[in-house]
Amino acid sequence: MSPFLLTRTLPEDATDAALRADVLEGLTRTPKTLPPKWFYDAHGSELFEQITELPEYYPTRAEREILVDRAGEIAAATGARTLVELGSGSSDKTRHLLDALTDLAVYVPVDVSESALTQAGHALIEERPGLNVHALIADFTGALALPETPGPRLLAFLGGTIGNLLPAERATFFAGLRALLSPGDALLLGTDLVKDEQVLVRAYDDAAGVTAAFNKNVLTVVDRELGADFDAGAFDHVALWDSANEWIEMRLRSRTDQTVKIPALDLAVDFAAGEELRTEISAKFRKEGVRTELSTAGLELAHWWTDREGRFALSLSVVR
Ligand code: AVJ
Repeated sequence: MSPFLLTRTLPEDATDAALRADVLEGLTRTPKTLPPKWFYDAHGSELFEQITELPEYYPTRAEREILVDRAGEIAAATGARTLVELGSGSSDKTRHLLDALTDLAVYVPVDVSESALTQAGHALIEERPGLNVHALIADFTGALALPETPGPRLLAFLGGTIGNLLPAERATFFAGLRALLSPGDALLLGTDLVKDEQVLVRAYDDAAGVTAAFNKNVLTVVDRELGADFDAGAFDHVALWDSANEWIEMRLRSRTDQTVKIPALDLAVDFAAGEELRTEISAKFRKEGVRTELSTAGLELAHWWTDREGRFALSLSVVR
């Protein structure tokens, strides 16, 4: 058997249909919204990579610090023979885990990007003879079917991407993850933490304007994929802290009264001057909130590790 397998659980045209549905639904409601998953075309993914290196954007460095410090403990606590990673992207930070998991037989990276999976997967099997990589092209916000692989399984969801989901969506998502796990399996979850408002807002509104470009890139995606005539220059990047919900919100604010045409949907969308389109929430967490959300899904918090500055947490939870 080849040590690299790729399984497509998403039909080739699913992405296009999902984008149309999301744009139609999001731009015809009040207030207008677009889901953050559409940021990540090739250019958006490149901009996100740049964001992770900005001085203001601490989450990636903080999470890597925890992984470097704690990979051995994670390996000892789980004894994982299968590592499943949701939203694996370049599998960059994962290497620290792969190095520590000495009993690992199979790595299952899950991503919507076939190119990211193929690139990362082939690089990994060259570096690690003996490791089987079974990549899954799938949207992890939907129902997931995992391949039959040896247990115990460790499911990793890193980066703080859980924060992109609304609380009710998180409850559904965690319950779905729980259903994939058996006794003895574990969930490794990355969560950005509540902290000083200035620090949070700067992380989403950097001085170099990379996050602004990343935010506006979603308009370019809709232009290219659906033939729309969004002018990214006619919108301002907005990042704000919602203290009641404890999340960062990114928005695009229309600079003028304007009408945007979206031919693929046979739609014209009016924006008033100053009107805002919400493009992302990025929720920030506290330990007790994470514990409660996991517990509601039948998962028990077993370890909670933060970086030295207490900005970001990795938690390990087990099936109750
Ligand atoms: C990749 C979802 C974790 O919410 O911090 C970065 C995306 N948005 N800057 C985050 C993002 C703006 C990022 N996640």
